[in-house]
Amino acid sequence: MINTLFTPLQVGAYTLPNRIIMAPLTRMRAPQATPTDLMATYYRQRASAGLIITEATAISPQAIGYPNIPGIFTEEHVAAWQKITSAVHAENGTVFLQLWHVGRISHPDFHGGELPVAPSAIAPQGQAVTFNGMQAFVTPRALALEELPSIVNQYRYAAQLAKAAGFDGVEIHSANGYLLDQFLRDGSNQRTDSYGGSFENRYRLLQEVTQAVVDVWGADKVGLRLSPSGTFNDMSDSDPTALFTYVVEQLNSFNLAYLHLVDALESDIRHGAKVVDLAVLRAAYQGCLLVCGGYDQARGHQAIADGLADAVAYGELYIANPDLVGRFKQNAPLNKPDASTYYGGDEHGYTDYPFLT
Ligand SMILES: Cc1cc2nc3c(=O)[nH]c(=O)nc-3n(C[C@H](O)[C@H](O)[C@H](O)COP(=O)(O)O)c2cc1C
Repeated sequence: MINTLFTPLQVGAYTLPNRIIMAPLTRMRAPQATPTDLMATYYRQRASAGLIITEATAISPQAIGYPNIPGIFTEEHVAAWQKITSAVHAENGTVFLQLWHVGRISHPDFHGGELPVAPSAIAPQGQAVTFNGMQAFVTPRALALEELPSIVNQYRYAAQLAKAAGFDGVEIHSANGYLLDQFLRDGSNQRTDSYGGSFENRYRLLQEVTQAVVDVWGADKVGLRLSPSGTFNDMSDSDPTALFTYVVEQLNSFNLAYLHLVDALESDIRHGAKVVDLAVLRAAYQGCLLVCGGYDQARGHQAIADGLADAVAYGELYIANPDLVGRFKQNAPLNKPDASTYYGGDEHGYTDYPFLT
């Protein structure tokens, strides 16, 4: 029998009813880093997804780099997230929290005037989104070797709080040019200590973070996201196919719930990405694989039928279609997402997209 997006799937500890995954989507609607009741409505509306991966969530104050993103580093955050996990569970949904440290993709405005941190003191090209509008990225401060255990501890503590908040698991965000991705790639990591240089050294922080999070949750409730071809946030690497093949091979030993790969996007290709063929990484990885990036229903079925992936995550389609699973099943027309309401604002363009009637 050929598997489709509608075939149930074992993902670590969970049997998902379908393979249509809600991709992590930052929406910047959490004042003071605290999730709101409106966010509970938003996630509840999308609970028919095989799995919801939440928007990226800051693991510490140092991890923040955008206005109004949620956090998971205080008891108040835990209480607020509990309402969201309860809302999703009331609809029989499964929800993982995406753990995030932005590294250099931040601004001193978020840190009382202190510099953002990074593997190396290299400023990304571009601008930070701040409470005072767009501002040029600054040159970050390179993390000292002695500080790296505290980064691992930030992930560990946030993972513990995520458990207290009632999540079903967590996804480690090592994609899209944020801290862990900055350590992996040599465009942003030019350290000369044991965390820079060789693949082994550049992978070291991700290895330590993954171990810490797995110690809290068990590997069967931990996913991990990579974007091997991504250029977003001024990312580059001299040999991404070799690097990410190495990383994926190393990750095999954790036996995680899943690995989540972001495919090359049109914007990456426009920015001259060295495209990493996902089939190469699929061949190197032995566990459950999610893919994401520009998929529609037909391409999603195809990726699963071809064995390129076990499940497919949808981003922009999930913004506009809370009942994406039902619409796919009925081949119903899809609502169009309104990009002007992606980041910040109220219920408009957030919880008011219509369901099929
Ligand atoms: C508004 C918006 C917010 C996003 N926020 C996140 C995020 O918090 N974490 C993450 O890993 N990716 C994030 N992404 C990337 C998406 O998860 C996804 O990889 C991307 O949209 C491509 O998939 P799609 O073509 O199905 O939308 C975001 C994308 C959009 C459009």
